[in-house]
Amino acid sequence: MHANPYIVGNWKMNGTRAMLAEARAIDRAAARYPAVQVALAPPFTLIHAMADEVSAIGVGGQDCHAQPKGAHTGDISAAMLLDCGADFVIVGHSERRKDHGESDAEIKAKAEAALAAGLGVIVCVGETLEQRDAGKAEKVVGAQVDGSLPSAEAIAELAPGKVSVAYEPVWAIGTGRVAEVADVIAMHAAIRLRIEAAYGERADGVRILYGGSVNAENASGLLEAEGVGGALVGGASLTAESFVAIIAAAGAERD
Ligand code: 13P
Repeated sequence: MHANPYIVGNWKMNGTRAMLAEARAIDRAAARYPAVQVALAPPFTLIHAMADEVSAIGVGGQDCHAQPKGAHTGDISAAMLLDCGADFVIVGHSERRKDHGESDAEIKAKAEAALAAGLGVIVCVGETLEQRDAGKAEKVVGAQVDGSLPSAEAIAELAPGKVSVAYEPVWAIGTGRVAEVADVIAMHAAIRLRIEAAYGERADGVRILYGGSVNAENASGLLEAEGVGGALVGGASLTAESFVAIIAAAGAERD
C-alpha cells in the first residue's frame, strides 16, 4: 500500500449547499487519518463555501480552462479556482473527454495552466470497453498519458505530489463493475513506465489513483494492489458514511 495514499471524491454534477454537511463530516473524519491525503471535488458552485468550512481535506475543481481569462462563456480558469479556495483540479475526466470532445492536447494545456496557477492536478485516463475487448487498453491509455500529462518542464520546479494520474476504465465508471485487481496492477505498471519515460526520477512524486466503482467493500483490495497510490471515487464519495469507510480502508495499518 502507498505510504501516503490520496483519496479523492469527485462529486460530478451533484450537490447543492445542503450537501456541505457531508463535506464537514468527511473533513472531521479525515482528520483522524493524517497519513491519508483526502480531497473533494464538488461542482464549481460549492467550492468557495466548502473550502471555507473544511480544514483537513483539499478542495478542487472538476475542470478548468487552459486560458487564464477571456471570452469563454461558461468556463472557469485555474486562477479563478485558486481564488475561491481550490487547491487542485481534475482534468481530462472521461465524461469531459466524451461530453465535451476534449483532446489530449487540450487536457495537457489545462493541466499546465493549473500548475502554472499554483494548483495541483489530477489527469484522468482510461479505455472504453470496446478498446479493452480489442486488446488495446494499454496502447490507448499509454497514448493518453503521453498526450495529456503536463510537460517535464512544467513540473520541473514543483513539489512532489502536485501531479497525479487517475486510471479510470470508462466501463467501470458508475457501473458497479470494478476492474480486476490483476488488470489494475498491469495498467498502473504500464502507466508508471510512461510517467518515468516523461519525467525521469521526478516520476516518483506522481501517484497513480484508481477510479471506477470504488466502494467501501472493494477499497482495501484495490488500495493494497501494487502501484495503486489512491482512489478517485464518484458515487461513493457523495455521503460521509460511504466515503469515510474508504478513507478508513486507506488509513488502516498506517495510523
Ligand atoms: P464511480 O465511483 O461512481 O464509478 O465514478 C468514478 C469516477 O468517475 C470518479 O471520477
